[in-house]
Order: sequence, then structure tokens, then C-alpha cells
Amino acid sequence: MLLRLQGVETRYDTSQVLFGVSLDVAEGEAVALLGRNGMGKTTTVRSLMGLVRPHAGSVYFGGREVTGQPAFRIARAGIGLVPEGRQVFPNLSVRENLVAAARGTGWDLQQIFDLFPRLAERQQHGGNALSGGEQQMLAIGRALMTNPRLLVLDEATEGLAPSVRGAIWGCLERLRGLGQSLLVIDRNIEALTTLCDRHYILHKGRIAWEGSSGHLTAAPDLRQRYLGV
Ligand SMILES: Nc1ncnc2c1ncn2[C@@H]1O[C@H](COP(=O)(O)OP(=O)(O)OP(=O)(O)O)[C@@H](O)[C@H]1O
Ligand SMILES: [Mg+2]
Repeated sequence: MLLRLQGVETRYDTSQVLFGVSLDVAEGEAVALLGRNGMGKTTTVRSLMGLVRPHAGSVYFGGREVTGQPAFRIARAGIGLVPEGRQVFPNLSVRENLVAAARGTGWDLQQIFDLFPRLAERQQHGGNALSGGEQQMLAIGRALMTNPRLLVLDEATEGLAPSVRGAIWGCLERLRGLGQSLLVIDRNIEALTTLCDRHYILHKGRIAWEGSSGHLTAAPDLRQRYLGV
């Protein structure tokens, strides 16, 4: 198993947010993490990345336990994060943002520009001069430049125009075709059921359901109960 969370419990100060979250992503698999606002999706991501330290449970990556390790070390082990809210460097150009992230072999600048032609056109622009969609493409490009074994996307299409969303989904489908392992958080269930093999639904800090795209599509009651759609 590429990524395994086992019974992860996380709190902020005194308020506990995750209650025994277990989930797996196999090599080459695309997995979705679903749930309404505030159910703990981002906290799950932060817990597996080492950005917050779980007080119980374990995180394994590539067969090794990484629980409690600093975030830079977990990232280096091969997890690329596209965080909620993008967070590109505003004072670096597009090209500099990408080059600064480069690690390992595989993805290079030209391949990122092939994936996102918009970024090629704007490569000398500063991160702060980009539209929301361009920033998102840059955030994905940066994560890819680290040549991650697992790419984690936290609401990568949030707040974007439909055409830009389409471009992001198209890119994820392409990555999928290249065998990239993915853990994706998003609100667009239709796109997720097309892209992903399996889904987990988080409800109040617990995994309330897990199953295949086929099972999720065939269960409108689930969607109503846990996702409000
Ligand atoms: N830094 C923090 N300190 C205290 N509480 C927090 C912090 N971050 C998140 N929380 C709380 O933890 C709970 C889970 O938040 P989290 O951000 O993980 O949810 P989410 O599923 O990602 O939500 P959204 O869909 O809005 O992004 C919420 O009740 C939130 O208010
Ligand atoms: Mg979130």
C-alpha cells in the first residue's frame, strides 16, 4: 500500500476533529475524500502530511511509518500537496515557482508547460499577477515538479470558472492515465466518480462510508445524507 492511515485521531488544542480515520491509497490508484464543510478533510490531509501531529493512530507511506515526522521529510518521501487556497509564492515568477520546487527526475519545466499551456504564456509573470485558475495550475505544476509518488489535492477546483475547472479535471485525467497515484478532495462528485476508483466519506471526523465509484453513483441516499447533494 502506498499510503495507509490507521486509526488517526487529531485535535486542535482541546477540540478533537478526527476520530480514528483509516484510509488507503494503493500505487496507481485515484481515491477521493468526500464530506461536507468542516468534517475534517483538510485535517486528514494535514495529519498525513505531518502539518499537524495526530495524538493517536499511524500513518504509513511506501510501507514505512511516518507518523509524527516533520512535514518536509514526509514531502520528501514522495507526497506532493496542492493545499487548500493554493499558496504559490507571490514574489516569484511562474518559472521560478516551478524551478524552486524541482526535485528528482521525471517532470521538467517543458512537460509542465505542455500540461498547462497557460503557464507557458505567463512564465515571466509573478505569482501575484495570475488569475485564480492560473495560480491553481501553478500549484499543481509545483507539486508535480517534486515528482511525487502520491499527489494530494485539497479543493483544487474551488472558486474557479467552469472552463478553468474543466482544464483542471482534464489535467487530472491525464495524470491518471500516466499512472499517477492521487488523493483528491473536491465538491464535484460527478467529476470525482469519473476520475477516481474509490471514495471515502468523512462525517464528523469519522469515515462514514467507503466504496467504489459504481456504488457511490448507485446510492443517492448516501449523497443526500453525507454530502447534501
Ligand atoms: N487550526 C484550527 N484550529 C482549530 N480548529 C480548527 C482548525 N482547523 C480546522 N478546525 C476545525 O476542525 C474541523 C474540521 O476542519 P477541516 O478544515 O478539517 O474540515 P474540512 O472538511 O476540510 O472543511 P471544508 O470543506 O470547509 O474545507 C472544523 O470544525 C474546523 O472548524
Ligand atoms: Mg478543507
